[in-house]
Amino acid sequence: DYQKHVRNFSIVAHIDHGKSTIADRILELTDTVSERQMKNQLLDDMPLERQRGITIKLNSVQVKYHAQDGEDYIFHLIDTPGHVDFSYEVSRSLAACEGALLVVDATQGVQAQTLANTYLALDDDLEILPVINKIDLPSADPDMCKDEIEEMIGLDATDAVEVSGKTGQGIPELLERIVKDVPAPSGDLTAPLKALIFDSKYDDYRGVVLAVRIEEGIVKPGDRIKIMNTGKEFEVTEVGVSSPHPVKKDMLVAGDVGYLTANIKSVRETRVGDTITSAQKPTAEPLPGYRQIPPMVYSGMYPVDNQKYDDLKEALQKLQLNDAALEFEPETSQALGFGFRCGFLGLLHMDVVQERLEQEFDMDLIMTAPSVDYHAIMNDGSTKLIDNPADLPDAGEYREVQEPYVKAEIMVPNDYVGPVMELCQRKRGEFITMDYLDKYRVNVKYNMPLAEIIFDFFDELKSSTKGYASLDYEITGYRATDLVKIDMLLNKEPIDALSFIAHRSEAQERARQMTSMLKKLIPRQNFEVDIQGAIGAKIISRATIKPYRKDVTWKIHTGDPDRRAKLLEKQKRGKKRMKAVGKVEVPQDAFMAVLKMN
Ligand code: GTP
Repeated sequence: DYQKHVRNFSIVAHIDHGKSTIADRILELTDTVSERQMKNQLLDDMPLERQRGITIKLNSVQVKYHAQDGEDYIFHLIDTPGHVDFSYEVSRSLAACEGALLVVDATQGVQAQTLANTYLALDDDLEILPVINKIDLPSADPDMCKDEIEEMIGLDATDAVEVSGKTGQGIPELLERIVKDVPAPSGDLTAPLKALIFDSKYDDYRGVVLAVRIEEGIVKPGDRIKIMNTGKEFEVTEVGVSSPHPVKKDMLVAGDVGYLTANIKSVRETRVGDTITSAQKPTAEPLPGYRQIPPMVYSGMYPVDNQKYDDLKEALQKLQLNDAALEFEPETSQALGFGFRCGFLGLLHMDVVQERLEQEFDMDLIMTAPSVDYHAIMNDGSTKLIDNPADLPDAGEYREVQEPYVKAEIMVPNDYVGPVMELCQRKRGEFITMDYLDKYRVNVKYNMPLAEIIFDFFDELKSSTKGYASLDYEITGYRATDLVKIDMLLNKEPIDALSFIAHRSEAQERARQMTSMLKKLIPRQNFEVDIQGAIGAKIISRATIKPYRKDVTWKIHTGDPDRRAKLLEKQKRGKKRMKAVGKVEVPQDAFMAVLKMN
């Protein structure tokens, strides 16, 4: 009978269509948090999420709702991120639910991630409840949205709920619809424990806190549990729900979404997507895992201060507890010393990891230019994975280099089709098809190298379409293309951390741009610095940074002690991000210069 009163659902949408705002209104209306506790966007609790106004980590919360039928219901609401980089988080949370609210911005209609996330929900057989948001805006067009949902997704949208996350209009009706339309969980309470780990968080005091969905059975403190894939056993110390602050419970039962701690100390002992069962009475089969999305972008990460290598390692290990998609392994660079090669889902993910390491772990980092992973087919037929451009062997040693390709789908109003196609062609895109979605919008499909799409493509797409285009892509495979490695030399020394891979047709131009960029970014030193770009032994670009004159020194000529302190502080901060490469001081920007070229 308990299960009949439980509803587990996620909210999925395209970025900025209002998931977090709607979640906040639901919490408010069900008195889950008092108005005083109510900071805007309560579920986005990571400082970075607040600064950027985006959801990065999924969060779950238990809500009590007194419905019009007079009964009390328990909702477990799981918020999900909307940015394409984080779609893996979406699939993880969906596996813990029976239903999904599909939020569509009434002024924007169905966008690329609306479709992508709906497909994820459909894959998981979830009941999908269309919700049209932002109906308070004058340009809202709910009927257009409904048509699009029906035509593009094939869902019946006649009964779509119309709401405003901003004013709260329509939210009471939405709550009723959740009760009526989202199926109650089923699952045998008397069966052996079977629970899905859909997230994990590291807490300094409690160790690893697992977010779990109980599929079958019961779990309570004192139980011995077993993590099915790793085989590790633990004793449960606490179970509870997030409301949204942790609230201890006596037990969690089939159908519940909550948290569990068990003195788990290390990342390797539990993996998101794994199944928890009882150590004494294990279930036969683990739950099906999630789709694991491999990293798409790699970058070298080095502490500015070489002494901090171990600190960085520890910080990365802790972050990984929170961020299943982050991968890293030790790497040595001649130029930068000891560090890590890290794998990310995309550039936003990379940015987020870097900022969290700096804000939460107080690290000063040098990151090298991001790169996709290439395959070098060697002369003996073996395949070498190249996730660091510096590792690409000399031209004579391999038969060909392959790069990852994606199928990109771009939805855009037909007025902007020209600029979109022009941009795609310039990024080595290969036209597939173009379909009219309705009278005004088209879906343009291209095959493109991932390397071209992952960097500034999205920004360029936005600016060439006044923000009206949306993008989704999926990796389709590897293709041999004519790629070359360009080495950058400072005073004749190749700097491994500055190497990059480019298409041969663009190599000359890119080397020239990189050279002039480095000339601008590297400050004058007290000796001349020679910059060269080279393919193998062949120099293809060069520039020189003149030494500064003797009388222009770093000394601070000022009598005012206050001002002097400030200047010193400023100098120190500026210096922090410099790395001595050989004898040359190179700033962080220089390692990222390759990103600024187009
Ligand atoms: P991500 O978490 O980054 O994926 O975004 P989201 O989908 O959670 O969107 P969010 O709730 O952060 O809302 C995006 C923007 O739309 C914010 O500036 C909100 O204030 C605004 N917004 C959300 N709902 C409404 C609404 O009903 N009306 C109006 N006018 N603005 C809204």
